[in-house]
Amino acid sequence: MHSSFPGVYLVCLFLAFCAVGFCVLGLEASPKGFFCEIQPCLPLLITVFFFIGISGDDDFYSGGSFFTNSTDLGRLCSISSQVDVYCPPRKRARISAPFLFGETEFEQNKQPSIDVLPEECLFEIFKRLPGGKERSSCACVSKHWLMLLTSIRKSEYESSKVVKENNDLVSEDVEMISSDEDDGYLTRCLEGKRATDMRLAAVAVGTSGHGGLGKLSIRGSSSSCGVTNFGLSAIARGCPSLKALSLWNIPRVGDGGLSEIAKECHLLEKLDLCQCLSVSNKGLIAIAENCPNLTSLSIESCPKIGNEGLQAIGKLCPKLQSISIKDCPLVGDHGVSSLLASASSVLSKVKLQGLNITDFSLAVIGHYGKSVTNLMLSGLQNVSEKGFWVMGNAQGLQKLASLMITSCWGVTDVSLEAMGKGCTNLKQMCLRRCCFLSDDGLVAFAKSAGSLECLQLEECNRVTQSGIIGVLSNCGLKSLTLVKCLGIKDMSVGAPLSSPCNSLKSLSVRNCSGFGTASLAMVGKLCPQLQHVDLSGLYGITDAGLLPLLESCEAGLVKVNLSGCLNLTDEVVLALTRLHGGTLELLNLDGCRRITDSSLVAVADNCVFLSDLDVSRCAITDSGAAALSHAEQLNLQVLSFSGCSGVSNKSMPFLKKLGNTLVGLNLQHCNSISSRTVELLVESLWRCDILS
Ligand SMILES: *[C@@H]1O[C@H](CO)[C@@H](O)[C@H](O)[C@H]1NC(C)=O
Ligand SMILES: *[C@@H]1O[C@H](CO)[C@@H](O)[C@H](O)[C@H]1NC(C)=O
Ligand SMILES: *[C@@H]1O[C@H](CO)[C@@H](O)[C@H](O)[C@H]1NC(C)=O
Ligand SMILES: *[C@@H]1O[C@H](CO)[C@@H](O)[C@H](O)[C@H]1NC(C)=O
Ligand SMILES: *[C@@H]1O[C@H](CO)[C@@H](O)[C@H](O)[C@H]1NC(C)=O
Ligand SMILES: *[C@@H]1O[C@H](CO)[C@@H](O)[C@H](O)[C@H]1NC(C)=O
Ligand SMILES: *[C@@H]1O[C@H](CO)[C@@H](O)[C@H](O)[C@H]1NC(C)=O
Ligand SMILES: *[C@@H]1O[C@H](CO)[C@@H](O)[C@H](O)[C@H]1NC(C)=O
Repeated sequence: MHSSFPGVYLVCLFLAFCAVGFCVLGLEASPKGFFCEIQPCLPLLITVFFFIGISGDDDFYSGGSFFTNSTDLGRLCSISSQVDVYCPPRKRARISAPFLFGETEFEQNKQPSIDVLPEECLFEIFKRLPGGKERSSCACVSKHWLMLLTSIRKSEYESSKVVKENNDLVSEDVEMISSDEDDGYLTRCLEGKRATDMRLAAVAVGTSGHGGLGKLSIRGSSSSCGVTNFGLSAIARGCPSLKALSLWNIPRVGDGGLSEIAKECHLLEKLDLCQCLSVSNKGLIAIAENCPNLTSLSIESCPKIGNEGLQAIGKLCPKLQSISIKDCPLVGDHGVSSLLASASSVLSKVKLQGLNITDFSLAVIGHYGKSVTNLMLSGLQNVSEKGFWVMGNAQGLQKLASLMITSCWGVTDVSLEAMGKGCTNLKQMCLRRCCFLSDDGLVAFAKSAGSLECLQLEECNRVTQSGIIGVLSNCGLKSLTLVKCLGIKDMSVGAPLSSPCNSLKSLSVRNCSGFGTASLAMVGKLCPQLQHVDLSGLYGITDAGLLPLLESCEAGLVKVNLSGCLNLTDEVVLALTRLHGGTLELLNLDGCRRITDSSLVAVADNCVFLSDLDVSRCAITDSGAAALSHAEQLNLQVLSFSGCSGVSNKSMPFLKKLGNTLVGLNLQHCNSISSRTVELLVESLWRCDILS
């Protein structure tokens, strides 16, 4: 079977490329042509990858107000019953209770006579406001004024020219926003109940005078008063400098809002849409047509976005560098392939997850992905062995450095070897839940992927010990990680091992229940240059299993994680500190319940560079803490005694002494230490972060 399909697939590949070529060139071969059929608009979702981390507490700056002393105004001006405009003071708030004033009282006493002017006049007045402070103040007056202000484009303000010339004003603005700056741009994030149209309007007005909003994130809730097109349109008009927009879970924003953004914010570079249930191809096409500087697009769970939108992005956004599409039911081969085929020149990061695409899309990636450096494919259940085989054999992925494949049935021995041969610069490979992959394919892959440095296998249950030996003997791996690979069972290796793998520095074997004494000894012999060893969750290993590995490590171990290795005893720690005390920096013995104070004595005597020690849930007592505190050279920075019930109040002086160097101390679930003792420690060790 395998011998026949390369020829067949090369022919298919050729036909496929012709089809794509026609699509890209707009020369539709036939209106009924399969690949060129364009599905009419259907719902979808776009996510653009970028993010703004600053909390949204300072949406709106009130530099002054017509009617109140702005210092007294406090943080919150409740302008009407449903509208909150958030007005942080210039500096951190000194007033803890928000100062609220009711609309009725407000209007009765302070009704401004200016409000009787027709809207046209107010417009003209607002346009002539000298700066952002004044605009913010006006927006604080009433919902009506706020709405009028948001309907004015930033470029329509008379002051937009004046400000540029007026250095004093500019420097004042800069001073005001300095705490919010992120790469020179203002950043806002509205979350949950704060994500309302009113707040967006306030952001639009409040940031217009500050050099403009650069990044906006909205993390919606499904509440009924969530953001709509109206709020997004206010942002579009007020924030023409917007570069990054992230919209999560805002079902009421649709194509109208996104089109307004596209129309006004031509500088947009990053767009991230997640669970935008009402945004369809139309919105995405508007972005493609108006935002030529788009570099990053992420779309997740947008049920109305489909192929047509992606095709437009591919054609019209020549700077696109990063694309991520996840769980969008309307996205298929046509959208993915035309995007990849036309946006090829700088596209370097591609993530495709949970899509109904087939071998065809992978063939296109393999052929056109010439500048792709990072590729992540996940949950592509309709891609077969042939798809991955063609992707490798197409020889286009020459720059690919990192490949991650999760839950794809098409990854088999044959296709993996082809990927190894085709991706000649591959450095990092991660395979998760690839249940058809076995030793033969893995070893063949390792032999052909000559640049491979890091390999991670997770839940690849057909891989056995001999596959691992084969990989280690055949390539220059620096790091190997095995997680929950249940196919690895101890076998005593009869035949002498091939040449050692001197390149391997880091080995991590987590929760592989069958990985025991024989496997450890084998790895130890094969990899004498190990420096980082993580065996967490290998509850089956014993002292006898680990000691040979410790003895064969020539380079000196630096980081050792033995968390959850229940049956290890002090003997291992004694050997470890004797052999590697001169290099060890991190030791994690969490849950090794047979480890006692004598291990801590050995650590105190031998470890010069240890900075991070975790003996949570070990059989440690006060005398262990005493031994550590009496060590002369020890310079611990992070220490965990979590769940050590043998450590009591009596350790207080030892902990205080250790605290001179500690920045982190974990005393959680230490039942014998009273809370009073912890309080005293917290008082005296003010530089140390104490968990209790
Ligand atoms: C505003 O209030 C603050 C403190 O409440 C006071 O120090 C300041 O003088 C007031 N400013 C004006 C203009 O009334
Ligand atoms: C795109 O970015 C470049 C440089 O970053 C800039 O010169 C150009 O004006 C931008 N394009 C648009 C449409 O704003
Ligand atoms: C795979 O394709 C078949 C038909 O071509 C379709 O019925 C099925 O839903 C697809 N699977 C996924 C996960 O999209
Ligand atoms: C997946 O795509 C195929 C055509 O490529 C289509 O027949 C099938 O219905 C799709 N499945 C789903 C679940 O959308
Ligand atoms: C590994 O096993 C431990 C104990 O059985 C469990 O607590 C932990 O979640 C597992 N880790 C992973 C990554 O599965
Ligand atoms: C050690 O392993 C445990 C369990 O996998 C993990 O939670 C912990 O972060 C690891 N510690 C270090 C320092 O790698
Ligand atoms: C730990 O060692 C004891 C004997 O010393 C053995 O009975 C037990 O099965 C071991 N536990 C595990 C999880 O291997
Ligand atoms: C710890 O000290 C507190 C008083 O500081 C005392 O109440 C408590 O009984 C002591 N606990 C132990 C285990 O000695």
